[in-house]
Amino acid sequence: MVPNPQADFSLYAQRREHVLDRLGDDAILILPAGPELHVGRDAEVPYQPDSELYYLTGYTEPEAIAVLGPRCADAPFTLFVRARDPEREVWTGVRGGIEAACDLFGADVAFPIGEFGERLSRLAVNASRIYVRTDAGRRDIDDIVLKLLKSALARRQRAGVAPLTLSDPALLLDDMRVVKDATEITLLRDAASLTAASFREAAKSIRPNAGEWQVEAALNYAFRRRGASGSSFPAIVAGGANATILHYTTNERELADNTLVLVDAGARRRMYCADVSRTFPVNGKFTDVQRDLYDVVLAAHAAAIAVVRPGATLQDVHRSALAALVHGMLELGLLEGDAEALIEAETSIKPFYPHKTSHWLGLDVHDVGDYMKDAQPRRLEAGMVFTIEPGLYVAQDTVDVPGYLRGIGIRIEDDVLVTEDGCEVLTLELPTDARAVEEMMR
Ligand code: GLY
Ligand code: MN
Ligand code: MN
Repeated sequence: MVPNPQADFSLYAQRREHVLDRLGDDAILILPAGPELHVGRDAEVPYQPDSELYYLTGYTEPEAIAVLGPRCADAPFTLFVRARDPEREVWTGVRGGIEAACDLFGADVAFPIGEFGERLSRLAVNASRIYVRTDAGRRDIDDIVLKLLKSALARRQRAGVAPLTLSDPALLLDDMRVVKDATEITLLRDAASLTAASFREAAKSIRPNAGEWQVEAALNYAFRRRGASGSSFPAIVAGGANATILHYTTNERELADNTLVLVDAGARRRMYCADVSRTFPVNGKFTDVQRDLYDVVLAAHAAAIAVVRPGATLQDVHRSALAALVHGMLELGLLEGDAEALIEAETSIKPFYPHKTSHWLGLDVHDVGDYMKDAQPRRLEAGMVFTIEPGLYVAQDTVDVPGYLRGIGIRIEDDVLVTEDGCEVLTLELPTDARAVEEMMR
C-alpha cells in the first residue's frame, strides 16, 4: 500500500461531502478502480491508480471499489478493498486491508472486494439511480450491476423503488475536477517545475548520432531522480520527420545532424501530470529555415497565452494560435490566400496543424471536463489548468512546398493555470525562444 504520508485526508472527505450533497437521497455512486494487468503468466504491469477513486478517497491499491450514497443502508461511504493476505504480501507488499480503509481513509465501513456482489443490493436499497463507471475494465463489477438492474426491473412494480437508471459518474465529478483546488495547484506546479528542470538536463544529451532513446532515458532518469513517480505518458523523442507523427513513441532512431528533434514528455508527481514539448536543433544551432518555422510556432504560442483569462474560451485560445500560424505561414509561402478566409475555414492549415491547441491537465494528462457547455465553448475560470501546444508539421510527402521544408515537425507546449486576471505559465522556467533553447543545450 502507498498511502501518501503527507496526504491531507480531510480534503478527500470534503470532496466526498460535496458529491454526497449532489447525489441526493435517491442515488448512489460506484467507483471501481481498474484491474491489475499482467504480462505473460504473472509479471505485474505497474499499477496506475484510478483517478476518480483517488480524487475522492486518496486510495491507490488495486481494484478497490468505493460506494457513496447518503441513504446507503449502513453508511454513506463504503470501501471494498483487498483484504490483508500475509502470503501474497510477501510477494507484492503490505496491504492496508479493512483496517486502513476505515482508520486511515475514513470509510464508514469496509469489506473485502469479493463481497461487493452480495452487498450491493443492500447498499442500493433506496436508490433509483446508480452512477457507475462502466469503462474501468471491470467486467466483474459490470456484471454485478447489471444483475442488480435486472432484478430491480422485476421487483419495481411491487417494491415501488429500485435502481433503474444508470448514469455516468462524470456528470458528478468532471465539473469538480476541471477547476483545481489549492492543493492540486501546488502539485501541478511541482510536476511542471520538476519537468522543466528535467528538460534542461536532458537537453544536454541531444547531439548528432545520439539515439532518440538516449534522450528519453535522460528525461526519465531526471524525472525519477527528482522524485517523480514516473511519466505522465510515454515520452515522444522524435528526430527529423518522425516529429510529423504526432504521438511517435518508438524513439528508436538516431538523431541526424542539421535536423530538429521534438521532445514531448511530462513527469507525474504524486498523481498529477505535466505535459511539455520543446523542439531543439540536433546540432545546437537552428538553420535559418528551421528558425523561421520555429518562430512562427513561437508567435502562435505567445498569441495563445495572451488571450487566457477568466471568461475566454479554449476556442479563443485555439483561434488566436491559428491566426498567428496562418499569418506566419503566409509570410513563409507555405500557404496562399486570404488570411481571414484561411483562419475561418481551417481546412488549408489542417494538414500542417491537425490538432487543437489545448487540453485540460490534472490527474490525467488529457484530463476530464467538457469543452462545451450548452452547445457553446466553455468559459474559462480561475483554477483551470490546461496545455498550450501549437505546432507546425510538414510531412515528408507534402506536395506544393519546397523540398527543404519537408519532414519537419515543431511543437512548443506549456502548462498554464487560469488566474483571476490572466494566467500563470507553470512551466515558465523552461525557455521557449530559439536562442535560449540553443543555450540550454550547452
Ligand atoms: N503529450 C501528448 C499531448 O501533448 O497531448
Ligand atoms: Mn505533450
Ligand atoms: Mn499535451
